[in-house]
Parts: sequence; C-alpha cells; structure tokens
Amino acid sequence: MDQIFHQRRYLIPFRAVLLPQIFTDVLVIGAGVAGMRSALSAAEEGADENTDVIIASKGVLKDSSTYWAQGGIAAVMDKADSFESHIDDTMIAGAGLCDRNAVAHIVEQAPQRIEECIKWGLPFDKSAKTNQTALAREGGHSHRRILHADGDGTGKAFALTLYDKILEHDSIRLFDDCFVLDLITDKDNQVCLGAITHHPKYGLQVIWAGATILASGGCGHLYRESTNPQTVTGDGIAAAYRAGAKLQDMSFVQFHPTTLYIAGAARSLISEAVRGEGAHLLDKDGYRFMQDYDERGELAPRDVVAKSIIKQIQKTNATSVYLDVRHLGREFLQRFPGITKQLHAFDINPLKDLIPVHPSAHYMVGGIHTDLSGRTSLTGLYACGEVAATGFHGANRLASNSLLEGLVMGAEAGKTALEMMEKRTIKPPVKIISDIRISERSNLDIDDVRSSLRSIMWRHVSIERDGQTLNEVQKSINFWAQYSLDKIFDDRRGWETQNMLTLGSLVTQAARWREESRGTHQRLDCPESKDDFQVHDLWQIGSETPELNKV
Ligand code: SIN
Repeated sequence: MDQIFHQRRYLIPFRAVLLPQIFTDVLVIGAGVAGMRSALSAAEEGADENTDVIIASKGVLKDSSTYWAQGGIAAVMDKADSFESHIDDTMIAGAGLCDRNAVAHIVEQAPQRIEECIKWGLPFDKSAKTNQTALAREGGHSHRRILHADGDGTGKAFALTLYDKILEHDSIRLFDDCFVLDLITDKDNQVCLGAITHHPKYGLQVIWAGATILASGGCGHLYRESTNPQTVTGDGIAAAYRAGAKLQDMSFVQFHPTTLYIAGAARSLISEAVRGEGAHLLDKDGYRFMQDYDERGELAPRDVVAKSIIKQIQKTNATSVYLDVRHLGREFLQRFPGITKQLHAFDINPLKDLIPVHPSAHYMVGGIHTDLSGRTSLTGLYACGEVAATGFHGANRLASNSLLEGLVMGAEAGKTALEMMEKRTIKPPVKIISDIRISERSNLDIDDVRSSLRSIMWRHVSIERDGQTLNEVQKSINFWAQYSLDKIFDDRRGWETQNMLTLGSLVTQAARWREESRGTHQRLDCPESKDDFQVHDLWQIGSETPELNKV
C-alpha cells in the first residue's frame, strides 16, 4: 500500500499524486544568513560528503532580510571586551526573558563563526588607524563590538559571501522563487517529511526531505509599516504551527524608530547607527524633542525612541518626524553609502535636507520554539534565525544580535539535522492527503482582508497595546480567518494572506494573554512588568492556553 502523508491545505488528494516529486537529504527553507549557513553546515558536516541539500528561497538573494540588513554583527573580538559583558548586555535588553544558556551558547561561538566568514572572504570594514577589523559601539552594548561591512551594507556582504561559498558545493541546489505552501507530516503529525512548494514556472512540487530546516525569517509584513522586504509574511512560522510545532513568545515584535517615510513608497530602514553618529530627531516644527521623553535623548533604547516618536507625531498632528544629519557633513556620505543612495533616489540630499522618518515593525523576537541545537518540537523539523525562538533575545533583541544568531544557529541546525539521515523511510510513489474540505462559505476580497489586517495590526497590536482593543482585534481577525482559511487558493497572494491571518491571530492572542508590559510589549492597561509573567509562553495548534516555561 502507498504511504499516506498529511498536507493541510490547498491540495485535493487525486491532484497530489500527480505532482512532481523531488527527494533530498536536507531541505532548507530560506536563503538568508541562517538558511545559507545551515545548508553549508549540512553539506560539510555529514559523514557522507555527498549529503544532498536543497535551499528553497521564496524570492531571490536580494529579497532576504539578511541582504537588506544595514546594521552590523556583534561579537567579542577585542581583548578589552569579554563574553560576560556581551552576555550581560544581551540579558539587560531582553528584559528578564533571555535564557542565559542560550545567550552564552551564541555569544561564545560568535568569534569563531566570524573568523570563518573572514576566511571565506567577507570584507569587514577596517580601522584606518590600525588596519584591523573596525569595531563600533552601538546602543545597549558596553564595548566596541559591532563589525560592519561597506558601512551600512553588512547584510549584503554576508549574503554574497555565503552565496559564493554555496556555489563551491555541487551537493547544494538553490531553488529561487520557490514558495513553500506547507510542511508535510506523517499521518499522526509526529514527523516532518518535507514540504509542498510552488514555482511560477514549474508549478506545485513535493520535496521529500530527511530533515527540514526552516530559516524563512519573520513576519514584518503583517504590519502596514515595516522595514522588511515584501517577501516577509510569516510563511514559515505559520506552516510550522499548522504542522504542530510549538511557537514561543509570539507577542514580542520589535519596532524600529526610524524608517524613511515617503507617502506611497515602500518603507526602508534608516539605521540606528545614524543616530549613533550624532543625528538629531526633530518634529515638524523643527523642535528637537527626544530630551522631553528620555535623558539619553536620541541614544535611548529603540523601543523608547519609537514610542517617543509616535507620541510627538500625535502631539504635533504630523505624519512623521525628521532625522537631521546636516551637521555631520560629508562623513555621513562615506559612512552610510547605502542610505545615501536610498535618499538620493527620492531627491533627498542629506547634507541639505531633513529626512522624514516614522517607526515600523522590524524584527520578530518570538517564533518557533527550538532547543540550542535548532530542534523544534516536531521530529525532523529544525529552525534557525529570525523564524526561531531560542531564548537568546528574551523580550527585546539587542541591536546587531540578529545576524549573529542566524550565523551561529544556522551552523548548529545544519549539523544537528544530519541526525535524521539514518531515519528516512519515504520511498516513491507517495500519496498525500489534505484534511481541508472545499468550503461553501462566502468569499471575502482577499486583498482587502490583507490590507485591513496590516492596518489593524499596526494601529492596535504594535508599539502600544490595550487589553480591550486587543479583544476587538481578535474578533476581527477571527472573522476574516473564518472566511479565508477555509478556502483553497492557487496563488501566493492567497497563501500568504492565510499565513498572515494565522500569524496576526497568534500575535494578538499572545498579546492578550500577556497582561503586563515587558521588552517590546507595551500594554497601556498593564504598564508594569509582573513576576508571574517572567515565563516563556508556548502555543500549539489545538490548545487555547499556552504552556508556560519558567525562565
Ligand atoms: C539598524 O541598523 O538600526 C538595525 C540593526 C539591527 O536591527 O540590529
């Protein structure tokens, strides 16, 4: 008899058996720093040198959050610095929810992983004085420990270096434009066995994998205002949830204070390093307002600055505030070539003009629960990078710790996934069943749902939240979900919107449950942190209340 496996959506059984089937040892979903590093690790660490690896990337290299990352990577690279200090800084930013073991695990591997990238050709910026790798200091860090490449192009340098390294491996195949609809599990939802994918040219395909590594990033586009590439719609987190994996700390979404605000244009990040170099924040009347909110002024932590900007925008009845870098002179252009190019594209000359900025959703702190080897709660499924929650970031991520987590945990997850190589049982041909019935319920306009969801998330589940409003938001999302999650779509827009509804509901649910303020999560009706909530909240499909893990 054929083996029968579950795929949760979209496919009716008779269609599934007609799909092309591909078999691989390790399927990596996502081609940012975590995905590429995990693929390299899987390909290089296997006992058998021919471990076959497929990287399924939703877009192309340039579409990842890694490629877009302007900020640097934090690591202890100077004798005057110490692991203890980087650990302490990370734990302070994490507001009581960091797991010390996770923090130490990642921080202590950082120098080794970075040296490896330098060996592979990653061109970190050098100090003009010493000709050694330059180390910058950023908000929340007690020492100079941030490495940059090409000023504000660190993420791009990582992406290109890892991509070149991947090209050296015949056993790694990179499938661009390959959207993952869903993970496949065995009949009892005990083991992940690969994924159903869609490619505009090749259509639907089944990729059976001995191990599957999710490295598909966060969910920034759940919010109307976001620094993330448009591809970032939470597909991996939603697929893992449907497959039965546990999600952790979903209420913690980090907002960045300064994204370029041009009505009608996609938002783009203006790095915190710009304020680090001395930029001022002015309101629409030219008033430098940050001192009114925090004595650290523009250098206050990013959640404080983001909140202050929102308040000042409300107070002045404006649509944005402004970064003023005019006094920094031509050095600004050299230090931030990418940002300068971005500004010129909108005819903004930073030496003469003010830069309109506004806060935006930036980074998903919560995600798929993993151990320190990248294992999720579902056998055969691993996760690393922004998609995962290891306990490293706690309730608020310290600047420049995200490329670091992707790099270290990517290497870790790729190696660990090889433990599945002996356990594979799948032999073609294989049938898949889907447990969704064709719905007779009314249709909603999916584009309208998507944009309403993004607006409601931005207005009510972003920087400041309130219990009663969150309850109303949950009702709206549930209503949209009721008429959208039961449908079988045949395009990305529909699949993505379903994922965004799932994620919107989960973030809201976790935000309703967390009746306190902590880290990125600010409740107007519960303004203080509470000891009872110094726990990780874990959510799994089919359960209404979270499992709690004491920190
Ligand atoms: C930034 O450059 O402001 C963002 C860096 C980060 O989020 O770590």
